[in-house]
Amino acid sequence: MKHTPWWRDAVCYQIYVRSFADADGDGLGDLLGIHSRLSYLSQLGIDAVWLTPFYPSPQHDNGYDVADFRDVDGRFGSLHDFDSMLASAHDLGIRVIVDIVPNHTSTEHAWFKEALVADPGSPARNRYLFSGGTGRAGSRPPNNWRSVFGGPAWSRVKDGHWYLHLFDSSQPDLNWRNKEVRDEYESVLRFWLDRGVDGFRIDVAHSLYKEEGLPRAARQDTLATPYYDQPEVHSVYRRWNQVLKEYDGDRMAIAEAWVADPEAMARYIRPDELQQSFNFHWLQTPWSAAAFRRVITETLKAVEPVGASATWVLSNHDVVREVTRYGGGDLGVARSRAATLTMLALPGSSYIYQGAELGLPEVDVPARARQDPVWFRGGGVGRDGCRVPIPWSGSESPYGFGPDGAQPWLPQPSSWRELSVEAQDHRSGSTLDFFRRALAMRRAISGALGQRLRLPKSPPGVLVIERDRGFTCVLNCGRRPVRLVRLANSMGIPGQTFGDLLISSGDDAAVSDGLLPPDTAAWFKTGATVVRSHSHRLPGSTSRNRDGRG
Ligand code: NOJ
Repeated sequence: MKHTPWWRDAVCYQIYVRSFADADGDGLGDLLGIHSRLSYLSQLGIDAVWLTPFYPSPQHDNGYDVADFRDVDGRFGSLHDFDSMLASAHDLGIRVIVDIVPNHTSTEHAWFKEALVADPGSPARNRYLFSGGTGRAGSRPPNNWRSVFGGPAWSRVKDGHWYLHLFDSSQPDLNWRNKEVRDEYESVLRFWLDRGVDGFRIDVAHSLYKEEGLPRAARQDTLATPYYDQPEVHSVYRRWNQVLKEYDGDRMAIAEAWVADPEAMARYIRPDELQQSFNFHWLQTPWSAAAFRRVITETLKAVEPVGASATWVLSNHDVVREVTRYGGGDLGVARSRAATLTMLALPGSSYIYQGAELGLPEVDVPARARQDPVWFRGGGVGRDGCRVPIPWSGSESPYGFGPDGAQPWLPQPSSWRELSVEAQDHRSGSTLDFFRRALAMRRAISGALGQRLRLPKSPPGVLVIERDRGFTCVLNCGRRPVRLVRLANSMGIPGQTFGDLLISSGDDAAVSDGLLPPDTAAWFKTGATVVRSHSHRLPGSTSRNRDGRG
């Protein structure tokens, strides 16, 4: 039988480490906290977790400013805590992906400290992108590039030279034309692969190379700039592909590459490059059946020729939570649930951001509590609103995120008592209940689904997704309920029904009566639903070292 790597159709849950669970009461989530919540994740029914950076860091960008790639920041635990969390995750059948940050280091990294005291033009400086300035006495930056977080992308050091930082000034960009940089990252990959991680999420994967000569950017408000998506970057991922292949267990890497269109995205996942790339086009899609349809078509058209699997993403720690994007309140929750059920119906893998399973909205964090460098650099309100720590239990902050009395790093709204895991745990119809049922149903039927997908013509506002062997997902983005028999009839479906209702994102009783309410999705299946038995142990999970030697 053909071997299918696990990541091709996995559901991966993103853990924003500092906001997930705080075991030691310092207000920040940590690895022991994650360890203590693994059984929750297992019950939720996910296949893998992606952990945001937990490495030593001054935390100017919440860990995306890494000072040492081979250790754990004391605030988050130790390497020992990581190893034991990883072993327990594997025992529960959960794969673990860690973040790798290759575009930049922290200014606290040993390399940058060395560069600061070294001469212009020295090997230590050549690991980064230092340059003389322009204007009188070089007092103006080398070019007009802007930081993604706001303000100029250059900062000046004591001797008058400038260094590039596409993000905060505490995140100097590395020089990927330098072999030492390329070798160092391969060694870092091996460090974590040897410990048994299943894969990597690659931070700003599209920006490692800057156009030779660092030319002026004609425009900065587009993705077509001299610092994004340069052709040389693909040679790095071809090397990383080889490194991953040295290991057993279908290790993988997924690119965070904000590129212009699905075709550009597909270049990162050619057969000899990375395994996956986040499909941010799904997340950017407005609430419209036609728009969803377009993104599905374009995504599959782009990934199929390169033989890759699609990914679907509704949110992460950098964007406004989907409940709020879709209008907030009950409407936002209904649409988020419907969009989730729709993405779970698609071939490929889905990435779910922590708290989506609780229907958490974006929080309006008061200005005095904000911590995002985006806010401090004048780049807007920043991303703190989607990073507020998870409410687990109880009626007041910290809602079980940490021990009672511990102050979480961002304030949690008082309304979150109703959204906590405890509050939703046994409430039938809660968003948590819906996620658990949806993920269980996906597991149960996935073995019976073919990869082929059709998007038959349907009335405006309605999206119909058909997959081989009798599976249909119907999404109603319109204003009126859809009469399912009439819809099936108009589409020429034999027997005029889509089959038995498997699950809906809203009121199952209404759907069983034949009406799909607005802002609702539902799954149907004709014929026998094959329930795949699912073993929760990963093959060789405790001895998944290089070459399978344990
Ligand atoms: C993308 C990460 O997701 C974001 O949180 C971070 O600020 C930037 N890359 C810089 O590393």
